[in-house]
Amino acid sequence: MNAKALILAAGAGTRMKSAKPKVLHEVLGKPMVRWVVDAAREAGCDDVHVVIGTGKEQVEPFLPDCIISYQLEMLGTGHTVMCAADKFEGYEGSIVVLCGDTPLVRPQTIAALAEEREKLNAACVVLTMEVDDPQGYGRIVRDEQGNVIAIVEQKDCTPEQAAITECNSGAYCFDAQALLSRLDRLTTNNAQGEYYLTDILGFMVEDGLTVGGYVVDDNDDCLGVNDRIQQARAIKIAQQRINRGHMLNGVTMIDPDKVWINPDVRVGTDVTIYPETYLGGHTSIDDCCVLGPNTRLTDCVVGDHCRIDETVGIEATMEHDVTCGPRAYLRPGTYMCAHSKAGTHVEIKKSRIGEGSKVPHLSYIGDCTMGAGVNIGAGSITCNYDGVNKHATTIGDGAFIGSDTMMVAPVNIGANTLVGAASCITRDVPDGALALERNKQVNKANWVRTLGKNKK
Ligand code: UD1
Ligand code: CA
Repeated sequence: MNAKALILAAGAGTRMKSAKPKVLHEVLGKPMVRWVVDAAREAGCDDVHVVIGTGKEQVEPFLPDCIISYQLEMLGTGHTVMCAADKFEGYEGSIVVLCGDTPLVRPQTIAALAEEREKLNAACVVLTMEVDDPQGYGRIVRDEQGNVIAIVEQKDCTPEQAAITECNSGAYCFDAQALLSRLDRLTTNNAQGEYYLTDILGFMVEDGLTVGGYVVDDNDDCLGVNDRIQQARAIKIAQQRINRGHMLNGVTMIDPDKVWINPDVRVGTDVTIYPETYLGGHTSIDDCCVLGPNTRLTDCVVGDHCRIDETVGIEATMEHDVTCGPRAYLRPGTYMCAHSKAGTHVEIKKSRIGEGSKVPHLSYIGDCTMGAGVNIGAGSITCNYDGVNKHATTIGDGAFIGSDTMMVAPVNIGANTLVGAASCITRDVPDGALALERNKQVNKANWVRTLGKNKK
């Protein structure tokens, strides 16, 4: 496919009532404009151009792989294209125009639109949709033979045109030069005083060029998000499409309405997902895992056969057969080796938990390198922060750390050591040693009964 994409994303989006530009509002954790960029790429567009304006400083960082143009005054969609025109000088091929606020446009729809233009050898094919209520859309006007002859905006419609239910989705595939050579003919001579991109199609027809209309097979592809209600609708549709795809690939969802998976997440087969589970960012889940309920994983890498129950994980890696939760919190830089465990009310940060090592209950492990086969007793803590700097703890293979141990970093606890419960460890423990740090217990015989008597 010899096509470049041009995404119109300069509009203000005032109906979102937001400090954030509209196209950065997210659908399943991904900004709307990113959905459109990624769909264009997946469809096979070589370059993706984006025209931004409102909040451009905020939007631009999300588009490092795109060619950016700026529209600083919102003078209409025709003007938006003018703002990018110099980037296409001398280019002969297709330009697929898309809107930055239609996150659900699928790659196959973009590809089909471009193929239709090639098939018809048309100057332009517009993506259209049949709707029950055409209010607000440009109407597709066809002649008796069914050829598209014009697109008329709602505010410029005659009553007969207003009754047309085939509408302009706002997506088109143009022959580049046929589009660019006509931009200077656009005027603002219309009801809204805007440069209408849609007028180009009329000029093409006047000039005897072929213009086609391609009816989308799923109107959801054209859902434009202008307010938070439409955003919620887009999220619901995206959720259904994504979850359906995973289920068809061998994922069991106990209740797919209660599972939210970002489009860039990979899930293997024979995975079971319980309700209230969110998989975000570029998370990857291998085969045979059981996730949830109440689990949120963002940018995590999870090996096969892991059991992750009521866990929050961010930028954490789990090899295979890892057990987490209920109520574990794996923060960035957590690396759980095979068969390791982060149990109940356990927080781990920037630490390596060695093969088969277990942190089962009520512990904080931070900046720690732990060997294999270590057992951390309940309520143990790596005291990694002195109020100014963070310090590291190392724990050797086979160490047994008793309950309620404070490991005051920097500190090294050797292999096959035993640390007595309730110790506060401030010095290194050599391999094989027993470390004990606690006061001698005092027992006062019959003390309680005596006290009771004295009280009488
Ligand atoms: C446009 C079409 C209309 C179609 C509708 C589909 C024109 C003249 N009309 O309507 O036929 O039914 O889309 O939604 O094109 N944008 C800019 N700069 C501008 C104006 C718009 O970047 O100056 C961007 C918006 O951010 C948005 C897209 O272009 O992503 C469409 O703009 P919008 O105002 O929603 O559409 P209309 O112009 O009303
Ligand atoms: Ca408008």
